[in-house]
Amino acid sequence: MPAPAELHSPTSTATTHVRRATGDDLDALVALEQATFSLDRMSERQWRRHLDSASAEVLVAVRERRLLGAAVVFYRRGGDIARLYSIAVAASERGAGTGAFLLAAVERAARQRGCKRLRLEVRADNTAAQRLYERAGYRLFGLHRAYYEDGTDAQRYEKSW
Ligand SMILES: CC(C)(COP(=O)(O)OP(=O)(O)OC[C@H]1O[C@@H](n2cnc3c(N)ncnc32)[C@H](O)[C@@H]1OP(=O)(O)O)[C@@H](O)C(=O)NCCC(=O)NCCS
Repeated sequence: MPAPAELHSPTSTATTHVRRATGDDLDALVALEQATFSLDRMSERQWRRHLDSASAEVLVAVRERRLLGAAVVFYRRGGDIARLYSIAVAASERGAGTGAFLLAAVERAARQRGCKRLRLEVRADNTAAQRLYERAGYRLFGLHRAYYEDGTDAQRYEKSW
């Protein structure tokens, strides 16, 4: 079944859309990053570079022009594996399906680029994110020891289609 193109809020009539980010989203992307991550944060410069890069795609979930979440995907020229580099949803919006919605849009984008697989790393202590991936059909296939700035391991997940 194809993933829906919009997400209906349980508390209002407004819908959430996913679209490609532009330079106009930069401030909101940086603010989301700062509010979400305390370590391994992307700087404004890195966001700008991803927005301008042909081998990256930044997708944003937006409701009534408010940025609710963002995801960054990396591609390799000629490769058929996409990499989900980052995904985040604003704290006040979590648990309402926005993460799953954004992830489905990432998979659609990767498929459109001809990729057959999506891979990602997640902190070993991030159970909310692990649950999101497992529910979406990702399987754990490896570990990177002491991958993050604070020495935490990364679990490696992938999904093929
Ligand atoms: C991981 C993340 C993107 C998920 O986004 P989300 O919009 O909450 O995702 P969903 O609502 O689609 O579902 C995620 C799962 O986590 C649960 N969850 C996550 N945060 C929650 C919260 N604050 N309250 C209640 N449930 C929460 C959801 O209930 C759901 O699990 P379940 O359906 O099995 O109960 C979000 O928690 C986030 O931005 N976390 C911080 C950044 C991060 O860890 N990114 C991933 C790095 S790999």
